[in-house]
Amino acid sequence: MSNIVENLNWRYATKQFDATKKISDTDLSTLKEAVRLSASSYGLQPYKVIIVENPALREELKAAAWGQTQITDASHLFIFANDLNLDTASVDKYISNISETRGVPVDALGGFSDMMKGVITNLSAEAKHIWTAKQTYLALGNLLNAAAELKIDATPMEGFNAAKFNEILGFDKLGLNASVIATVGYRHDEDTTQHYKKVRKSNEELFITL
Ligand SMILES: Cc1cc2nc3c(=O)[nH]c(=O)nc-3n(C[C@H](O)[C@H](O)[C@H](O)COP(=O)(O)O)c2cc1C
Repeated sequence: MSNIVENLNWRYATKQFDATKKISDTDLSTLKEAVRLSASSYGLQPYKVIIVENPALREELKAAAWGQTQITDASHLFIFANDLNLDTASVDKYISNISETRGVPVDALGGFSDMMKGVITNLSAEAKHIWTAKQTYLALGNLLNAAAELKIDATPMEGFNAAKFNEILGFDKLGLNASVIATVGYRHDEDTTQHYKKVRKSNEELFITL
């Protein structure tokens, strides 16, 4: 079996973390790099990723996440927050990044810039919210896969009150919205979930080859 499949079978949505175990700085850097390298529409990365270590803040967030203990017991909490204010200035910033990174004059990127600006300015606030939130799930996927490769446990989570998270984290003022979160760390020996068999659709049920 390939390493990828082995790792994906090894990982599971951890219910109980060992609160005494912390991930190393090196592993944290690798996880951050996996998130940073995520694909996104046009490459705009319309989100911020907040990593919460502060125990008091995590206690507060746990109360807004139906008391799920992963929030406080995991080593780190990642919050993927989509950008509600994605605008033409965001595109300009991205264009200057491309220009500097690839040594291309900004003028040569005018067509690409105008196209992105056209798309963004035509989106309603709701459509923009949905579109930017979708991008965060790709970053989440990269985090889960990278964690599995490092044999670090992770739990993707939507079971939280986004409005309360936004309030606690001051996201409202920043034009951000807590879209999805993930806790990373090490499974507790007593987490019985780790022994559950994976439940997935069969190939026949899942795939259609045309
Ligand atoms: C977007 C998303 C949200 C999830 N929310 C939660 C959650 O709030 N709490 C939790 O314990 N598990 C959560 N899960 C975990 C799923 O229940 C789990 O991934 C699924 O049952 C498949 O099991 P496995 O990941 O262990 O293979 C979530 C998973 C995803 C992808």
